[in-house]
Amino acid sequence: ALVTTTEMFKKAYEGGYAIGAFNVNNMEIVQGITEAAGELNSPLILQVSAGARKYANHTYLVKLVEAALIENDIPIALHLDHGADFEICKSCIDGGFTSVMIDGSHHSFEENIEVTKKVVEYAHSKGVVVEGELGQLAGVEDDVNVSAEDAKYTHPDEVEEFVDRTGVDSLAIAIGTSHGAFKFKPGQKPVLRFDILEEITKRLPNFPIVLHGASSVSQEYVKIIQENGGNLADAIGIPEDMLRQAARSAVCKINIDSDLRLAMTAGVRQVLWNKPEAFDPREYLKVGRQNVKDVVAHKITEVLGSNGKA
Ligand code: G3H
Ligand code: 13P
Ligand code: NA
Ligand code: ZN
Repeated sequence: ALVTTTEMFKKAYEGGYAIGAFNVNNMEIVQGITEAAGELNSPLILQVSAGARKYANHTYLVKLVEAALIENDIPIALHLDHGADFEICKSCIDGGFTSVMIDGSHHSFEENIEVTKKVVEYAHSKGVVVEGELGQLAGVEDDVNVSAEDAKYTHPDEVEEFVDRTGVDSLAIAIGTSHGAFKFKPGQKPVLRFDILEEITKRLPNFPIVLHGASSVSQEYVKIIQENGGNLADAIGIPEDMLRQAARSAVCKINIDSDLRLAMTAGVRQVLWNKPEAFDPREYLKVGRQNVKDVVAHKITEVLGSNGKA
């Protein structure tokens, strides 16, 4: 059934696991993710970015998720990823989503509170839940020094006031993850600031925390892409043992997009590179879709721990 994240997060928090929030933008990705979750009896969050909505069209995405709900008997939340303003959040709330993120993290603290509160008031009046964000995710391209880096992490001193004044249902934090397939420089040691997460959890007991930028960038798929005409040298993600540790903590939602892109791309490349005469899209998309399904099954059972929790 189509659900909000309220019950999912409560059970995940208490059970020491996390729900995977996977980005979707076409039929094969929706099918790969939901078939894996369906077979493993795992609750699921399917999330749609502004870019995905622009690519696939809001209605198509909602209907693909409705189809997945007919085919798979699991709870699924349909979530707006990185809503930039009140208007896109409203459009998704009115258009059948059960959860929205208002990403005010680049605003000042007061402006972030203002826009987040406005979204929460509207969302809650319609039975929809809201994710807010405090702190800024680092990027490997941002050549910042250590003190600038520190300034971007979520400040534990701000979280209580933010949650109290906005009424958000969950909070995305910055503790060292980043978006995309290039999260650390070659040779750089991946670090997640679990000490900051712990401080945040002390100030927000029993409150669900969200991790963005949590792809692991499987070197297996990077290698397949490299060997089949691609160029993704030095793609590096978050080590899986760190994500396992996060899943056992107050982190209830772990966002994964890049890992699905890599899985799909590896499959499509492998077919097209090795079989230049192939031109039936089903022939290469089905290999990509199977990779997406394999990746999601691996995440659910080996990283998130959400199998059997539907
Ligand atoms: O956080 C970003 C997600 O990976 C979505 O990316 O805006 O290119 O659809 P996108
Ligand atoms: P990745 O790029 O690490 O998959 O992160 C996705 C994400 O945070 C979507 O909001
Ligand atoms: Na958890
Ligand atoms: Zn994100």
